[in-house]
Amino acid sequence: MTERKRVAILISGRGSNMSALIAAAAEPDYPAEVVLVLSDRPDAGGLVLAAEAGIATIAIDRKAHAGKAAFEAAMSVALDGAGIEIVCLAGFMRLLSADFVARWHDRLINIHPSILPAFRGIDTHERALAAGVRLHGCTVHFVRAEVDDGPIIVQAAVPVRGGDTVDALAGRVLTAEHRIYPLALALVASGRARVEGSHVVVDAEPLQAAEPLIVPRFPDRQ
Ligand code: GAR
Repeated sequence: MTERKRVAILISGRGSNMSALIAAAAEPDYPAEVVLVLSDRPDAGGLVLAAEAGIATIAIDRKAHAGKAAFEAAMSVALDGAGIEIVCLAGFMRLLSADFVARWHDRLINIHPSILPAFRGIDTHERALAAGVRLHGCTVHFVRAEVDDGPIIVQAAVPVRGGDTVDALAGRVLTAEHRIYPLALALVASGRARVEGSHVVVDAEPLQAAEPLIVPRFPDRQ
């Protein structure tokens, strides 16, 4: 296969999506390799998991930097130093500047726990329950300067069940997140997903969608 894309994963917390990406990338035919995990919080649990998986880690403490520009400059040094080609935000709970986002245009992707453009921002599961929606889910998208905005790569929908608690719904969505993030990264890294205008076009034949509903869905990454 062609050369694998060098990927960095940016986290702030427990890193379960990060772990799903690392596990997918451990497959020899996966089109990306995870070479760096970077956290803005030195105490992020995901840093330990990444180190245990043999991935280089770095903590760049936001609080140790005078401002966002200095913090992002330090991140850029780390990303450039590792020869990163694609950056995956996986529970990275900081807003990135328009400059940083522009620098990584179409090479920076994020997972968000809702079916965008519904429920941008935080507390998505609480808000989905409050709104009484029957379907909820998650989205992997290219990052743009606006929060939780950008061309959509893959989405998954899960049912909202009567009597759901926030934790139950969040858990159901998280399981779907762990399926779609590796799929989306594979599509981007292999060049099968590309941005045209404000949409993503995917070059491949999708299978019939199944439960949970994942669009697009492919035979080789499920
Ligand atoms: C995930 O649910 C992710 O979608 C969400 O944070 C969680 C991180 O969990 N991201 C956002 O809300 C970003 N707006 P993880 O650390 O176990 O992957």
